[in-house]
Amino acid sequence: MKVSLSPEEYDALRALLARAAGLVFDETRKESMAYSVAERMHAAGLRDVSAYLSRLEDPVERQHLLDEVTIQETHFFRNPPQIRALRLHVLPELLRHAEANGRRLRIWSAGCSTGEEPYTIAMLLRELLPSASGWDVKVVATDVSSRAIAAAHTGRYGTRAVQLASPEELGRHFQAAPDGGYEVRPEVRELVEFRHHNLVTEPAPFAASERIDLVLCRNVTIYFARETTRALMARLHHVLRDGGYLFLGHSETLWQVSEDFRLVALGTGDSAAFVYRRLDLPAERRTVLPDRRTADEGPPPPKDERRLRVRREEPADAPLLVGLDTLVEQAGAALAAGHYAEAAQLAADACVLAPLGAAAFYLRGLALVNLGRDEDALVELRKAVYLEPDRGFAHFLLAGVLDRLGQPVLAARAYGAAADTLGLQPSDVTAEELGGRSVRELAQLCRQLERRLVGDDLANVVEEVS
Ligand SMILES: C[S@@+](CC[C@H](N)C(=O)[O-])C[C@H]1O[C@@H](n2cnc3c(N)ncnc32)[C@H](O)[C@@H]1O
Repeated sequence: MKVSLSPEEYDALRALLARAAGLVFDETRKESMAYSVAERMHAAGLRDVSAYLSRLEDPVERQHLLDEVTIQETHFFRNPPQIRALRLHVLPELLRHAEANGRRLRIWSAGCSTGEEPYTIAMLLRELLPSASGWDVKVVATDVSSRAIAAAHTGRYGTRAVQLASPEELGRHFQAAPDGGYEVRPEVRELVEFRHHNLVTEPAPFAASERIDLVLCRNVTIYFARETTRALMARLHHVLRDGGYLFLGHSETLWQVSEDFRLVALGTGDSAAFVYRRLDLPAERRTVLPDRRTADEGPPPPKDERRLRVRREEPADAPLLVGLDTLVEQAGAALAAGHYAEAAQLAADACVLAPLGAAAFYLRGLALVNLGRDEDALVELRKAVYLEPDRGFAHFLLAGVLDRLGQPVLAARAYGAAADTLGLQPSDVTAEELGGRSVRELAQLCRQLERRLVGDDLANVVEEVS
């Protein structure tokens, strides 16, 4: 059955799903919503969308629709830097803390989908704690999708779900399922408890006095409005104990969402995982500055290998805390001083801290342009304009890169976007990092370069620019 939704019907469904589970559907998801509705209408024996909308007053049908529209994409051992951080830092630390506190450990996989995430955590726990006798360890795994929870209960998976597991992990934590797939071993399954739970409309599924050591809420809030995420983060902060950890997905950030948590880097360089922590101690006890070196650490690394370092007055395994604003500021200063490699590295660190912030990607792109690394700059500048489509200076840089890389059509389009978006700013604003040119000047130049690239006005441009 094929269904097409009128604007009013789509709006009614969107409003219902926002109320029911905080889910936001924009225009690009209309087709997939129509597909889900068609599936449900077929199952319910209905042929008319308005009759189906009335049927949604029944909570059972609302749940069926939620099962249909939620996105269950997940894998075992998803996000390798986070898995490494869990294995090497977080779980050993939490177990040490639990050892001294009644051997009780509580982990919450919030938005657990079909179970791969909580079972992965239980597998990592089993590696550290082969026998849990005498311990009260539980991974509580919740999801709003009844269908996902039912699948999770079976503990059986196909090849795709385990594609990130190493052969050793496969051999250790799975056994052959009767249908030829993989079945999670009983000693792992017994650590996990699945429950149906709605993160947006229900309180946390724990007793009021219970505090949680680690919450994973990965790749869930990407479907929520910012206000919904804000309220959820406040609740997660409340259920965590002091020192507890919060893991989000790699495209999720608390930047401009919550200031309750401290960002923590675990590991170094490209394999660092950035996670959040509830830390109730005064902030100044925990400040860590970039690249602070002491005598026992040997000579400083070359500037372009600069890495963030932990202050030595912290315990050796203390997490590394850095400030986004500081990094962006330092990247800007390094650019101004002509230290492009250093600027590129500082901006790269800032990109990891705020993966949804355009400023750091723009600065990194600019640093890479100055280093003559146009192909790398292209990646960063595309991200900058994707994250902030009105960032005219980024469009301008992107256009130059595309032009140099022999892509005149795309370059013309980027110059056009630069002229349009620069035109939105007050015309006397200047970009120091672009040689102090004013917005007005740059917008005119971009328009002319756009025309030149579409073969229109070459002679004029050469005259004006030279
Ligand atoms: C993409 S999966 C993420 C699974 C897992 N956390 C991971 O990162 O691999 C997102 C999950 O969030 C669940 N979800 C969406 N809205 C929810 C809500 N309001 N309450 C609880 N779970 C929700 C969906 O049902 C889905 O299973």
